[in-house]
Amino acid sequence: MYNVSFYLRRLHSLVGLFVLGIVILEHVFTNATSLGGPEALNGGLAMMELIPRPIFYGLEIFGIAIPLIFHAVYGVYIALQANCNPGRFGYIRNWMFTLQRWTAWYLVPFLLWHVFYLRIYLKGICGVPISYELLDSYFQNPVVVVLYVIGMLAAIFHFCNGITTFCMTWGIAKGPRVQNVVSVLSMLLCAALSLVTIAFMAHYVLF
Ligand code: HEM
Repeated sequence: MYNVSFYLRRLHSLVGLFVLGIVILEHVFTNATSLGGPEALNGGLAMMELIPRPIFYGLEIFGIAIPLIFHAVYGVYIALQANCNPGRFGYIRNWMFTLQRWTAWYLVPFLLWHVFYLRIYLKGICGVPISYELLDSYFQNPVVVVLYVIGMLAAIFHFCNGITTFCMTWGIAKGPRVQNVVSVLSMLLCAALSLVTIAFMAHYVLF
């Protein structure tokens, strides 16, 4: 039993960093092209449509859906076991640990809503292609904008703080000094990705 949970936890960690990490980076960069206007984003989305369908669906199922479901379900199991009490332990790392859990809880309903509405309902069932124009009208609703900004920033923080915890889990960052350096670098990445996200979300709202 010890071995099963040990390997599941390692798999959860690898999937979070390498599979879902690539997904979030791709998402931020593709969406950031909207800063260049409708042609830029629609051009990027059209290039994805050139990928042969069996490969595209294979990537969606085996590269996104299954890893995400595994990471989310096992993540909820881990989060239910973990003891978060930032008030009692006032250290930054304990707060980061707690935020890792809180962002995970937010991501469960947010990602369900995001995937079911845009990918499954609009694109899959109604056959509406995802485009700059669609997102632009979607983000005219301030409630949607606020929930999306929180969701994107939660995913970015969860991923970037996860880089630090990954390096600890796998023994890559041993000792407090190296761990601090990794933590600062991953929070710089978090700040950069967050600024890009706020910029493209503001672009939809303001222009
Ligand atoms: C869908 C809801 C999600 C839940 C419930 C969830 C849950 C969790 C939990 C509880 C941990 C901590 C594991 C531990 O302490 O050992 C974790 C770690 C992690 N998660 Fe998530 N997560 C979710 C989504 C995501 C997403 C979308 C990404 C990528 C952007 C991601 C990337 C990571 C990374 C990189 C780690 C660090 C792995 C490590 O410490 O070794 N997670 N997740």
